Amino acid sequence: MISQALRDARRYEEIYEKEISPAERPLFHLTPRCGWMNDPNGFGYYKGQFHLFYQYYPYASVWGAMHWGHAVSMDLLHWSPLPAAMAPDQVYDYKGCFSGSSIPMNDGRHLLMYTSVRQTSDPQGQGSGVQTQSIAIGNGVDYTKYGKNPVITAEGLPEGSSRFDFRDPKMWQASDGSYIAAVANNNTEGGGKILLFKSKDLLNWKYWRVLASNNGRFGAMWECPDFFGLDGKHVLLVSPQDMLPDDFEYHNGNGTLCLIGSYDEKTGEFVEEKDQAIDYGIDFYAPQTVLTKDGRRIMIGWMQNWDACAIRSPHEKWAGQMSMPRELSVRDGRLYQNPISEIDTMYLNTIIHRDVRIGGAEDVSLDGIYGRCMDLTVKVRPGDADKIFHRFSIRFAKKGKLRTSVSFRPHEKTVKIDRKYSGSCRAIVHQRRCLVPESAGGEITLRLILDRFSVEVFINDGRYAMTASIFTDLDAEGISFYADGDVLIDVEGHALG
Ligand code: FRU
Repeated sequence: MISQALRDARRYEEIYEKEISPAERPLFHLTPRCGWMNDPNGFGYYKGQFHLFYQYYPYASVWGAMHWGHAVSMDLLHWSPLPAAMAPDQVYDYKGCFSGSSIPMNDGRHLLMYTSVRQTSDPQGQGSGVQTQSIAIGNGVDYTKYGKNPVITAEGLPEGSSRFDFRDPKMWQASDGSYIAAVANNNTEGGGKILLFKSKDLLNWKYWRVLASNNGRFGAMWECPDFFGLDGKHVLLVSPQDMLPDDFEYHNGNGTLCLIGSYDEKTGEFVEEKDQAIDYGIDFYAPQTVLTKDGRRIMIGWMQNWDACAIRSPHEKWAGQMSMPRELSVRDGRLYQNPISEIDTMYLNTIIHRDVRIGGAEDVSLDGIYGRCMDLTVKVRPGDADKIFHRFSIRFAKKGKLRTSVSFRPHEKTVKIDRKYSGSCRAIVHQRRCLVPESAGGEITLRLILDRFSVEVFINDGRYAMTASIFTDLDAEGISFYADGDVLIDVEGHALG
């Protein structure tokens, strides 16, 4: 049975998506059918296709009562919209269907677990959203909420666990066939932690143990966990709120980080070895992963951040986009990310310039290197090893005073993303830097994935990633290179289409 609220959302999105022409959207980054999008949800493979759901408010380009939007893809680059999968239409979720995950059932059906939010008042009359975990089961298009929802509540949790911050379940199947769900939780002292629950049938769940805690580090509440084995290690992805900065590694506010360590499936014990930011740019949050049939772990994040949403006017027809799908690996104790290899199916051409000498007062443009949709790799080295330049910049989305840049400063060992001149008229974060310790000699490889409204930078074969949304007028298509000293570059560009 489809509720009236879901029917309304489906009718609305069908009418209003027609008001958005394909040219007003990114070329290949997923956007909501209309209105608002935040976190990726239920990212998975089911019946021969990738399914990606998302936090969705179709009726305006601002956050509201959360629905689940839905899209499918064969290659994670070309998406087909499906009707909204869920609306907040039950007593236990009328305040919103928050983030969650999906899993195929043994009988062929598809199961979604999400955070159901309802309102309650404390004795002082203050309202708060109580968060529980609920289930919907369907066929890949239509989903029915389970009659015994919610299936996980805060009852039975360790003392001090919040029932107001208890969300974003991520399920997976353990090697013995049983199921585990990792759920984010908090206590009144701001102790963010990830809890594990167990189930044999995906319907009945029992609290198991704490997987990881913030222990006074890394902000307060940790949102949107994902957890998986990769290259002999286990990786926990979380998106902490209220972070304090730590040098170049973590910035203030909402951030993303991963803990890399080892995991004992029998005891559920996770021993942390390393932590790092997932993305060192401005707009990346709440990522989720999927395992492809050929064994690749692919991650997609919300290419926006709560602290910088104001870059987009609430009067636009859509707000929020997903990041490029990124192939993950763990190498030398670090999480690496690279654009999904299928991106080469979108190449319209290949332009190569080798040993180009840059330096001096002028910006240099190169034949064939322009446009807003491009996969652009630039290998940088000093022209004179005894006198290393101070700054090398790639400027793009450029026209008149408009531009966004990625700059490399070998003496500081940093790469900076700067969208100050991208056309933004809000006092929000426009710049961010990433430390690249191995770059002091002036050598670096910068790969930029440009889509109409974003840049994603992959540094040194994916050792660091930096992402930013930009909403510069689309006729700002220039790309140029600048250096304040002697620099040699090899450039390989592929216009995307
Ligand atoms: C993260 C988040 C989640 C929550 C959802 C609500 O961006 O705050 O924790 O489930 O967004 O839309």
